[in-house]
Amino acid sequence: MAKLCVNIDHVATLRQARLGFYPDPVEAASIVEKSGASGITVHLREDRRHINDGDVLRLRKSVKSRLNLEMSTAEDIVAFAVSTVPDEATIVPENRRELTTEGGLDTVKNFKRISSVISRLKKKRIVVSLFIEPSFGQISAAKEAGADFIEIHTGKYANNFGKKSGRAEFNRIKKAACFAAALGLKVNAGHGLNLENTRMIAGIREIQDLNIGHSIIARAVICGLENAVKEMLGIIK
Ligand code: PXP
Repeated sequence: MAKLCVNIDHVATLRQARLGFYPDPVEAASIVEKSGASGITVHLREDRRHINDGDVLRLRKSVKSRLNLEMSTAEDIVAFAVSTVPDEATIVPENRRELTTEGGLDTVKNFKRISSVISRLKKKRIVVSLFIEPSFGQISAAKEAGADFIEIHTGKYANNFGKKSGRAEFNRIKKAACFAAALGLKVNAGHGLNLENTRMIAGIREIQDLNIGHSIIARAVICGLENAVKEMLGIIK
């Protein structure tokens, strides 16, 4: 069964709405873990719009499951990751104006920089994943660059869920997961997953972790964080 890792960025988004101290992502992480999730994911964005350096340092100490740091290849972020040593690092593309991560990393085009960042992270025994589109070319480049995992971007599937194009994207994701596993890469997936569209993705055998954030934190406003995590675990099961 795929494991659930919860992205708690949007707990910090709510805190930053008032530039205050609550809600605290560290407290949220503890509830998420107690509710049965297998890991905590955070994205330290270059503009620090939600999670900040202090949050990551506190999470590094408090998280008992696994801490996955989503990060760009900007030098200050890489230096921070190397000194903080999360359990896992997921390299993502980042564009300042985007609302959320748009599209996967172009490992083919940025091969040299990405390979060098992977090697620096792996020297610290950090497990490295690349957030990429379900494309054979990107998967082969991820393998060549030395990644341990790929995380398949499910955004297009999620945005087109219920349409023919969503079904086509699902088939692409499934084929990509098989291709990556055959190359010896481990496979995660995430982005835009919610109570409606997660079941199909969770049914792909090769997928180990699902990174889900916005929909769970949004549900938590309505039914509480513990219930929202348990509800998603039920869907994955
Ligand atoms: N995986 C990656 C690599 C991401 O960048 C994000 C968004 O930060 C997620 C998963 C979670 O996406 P969502 O918040 O849409 O569930």
